[in-house]
Amino acid sequence: MAYRCTDPSKKGKRLYEVHCANCHGEEGQGLAQLYPPLANSDYLEAHATELPCIILNGIEGEILVNGVSYNQQMLGHPELSDAQIANITNYVVRQWVPSRPAPTPKDLKAWADGCN
Ligand code: HEC
Repeated sequence: MAYRCTDPSKKGKRLYEVHCANCHGEEGQGLAQLYPPLANSDYLEAHATELPCIILNGIEGEILVNGVSYNQQMLGHPELSDAQIANITNYVVRQWVPSRPAPTPKDLKAWADGCN
């Protein structure tokens, strides 16, 4: 738990707990067939650069996460600022996508710019 004060992923953690954890779980574990996991999700690993857009716009339709099919709807979070979305993205990728390097501020901006 040695987060430095300057670590933006600490803000991301707090925002995640408020805006995401009630569905995806504190540990990113998901909930049965309703809410897919984020922790070690092969879907998230393959679509990490789309995470800011998923947070902003939501996602619906059938997706396959670690071999389990989900066909639900996640609403977008237009109430979140660009900075908040960047902080959540940073936290989620660092926490649960160990195969990817931690996103840089430049990455986060490019990923967010890619979605409209
Ligand atoms: C009200 C419940 C709910 C909330 C809150 C929510 N999600 Fe989701 N999320 C879902 C559902 C349901 C799906 C599956 C959508 C589908 O079936 O297409 C999903 C899918 C996803 C996926 C793609 C699948 C995967 O598991 O890799 C990601 C990434 C994701 N959510 C991230 C987030 C983040 C980050 C937040 C917080 C900003 C968030 N979600 C908030 C319900 C929620």
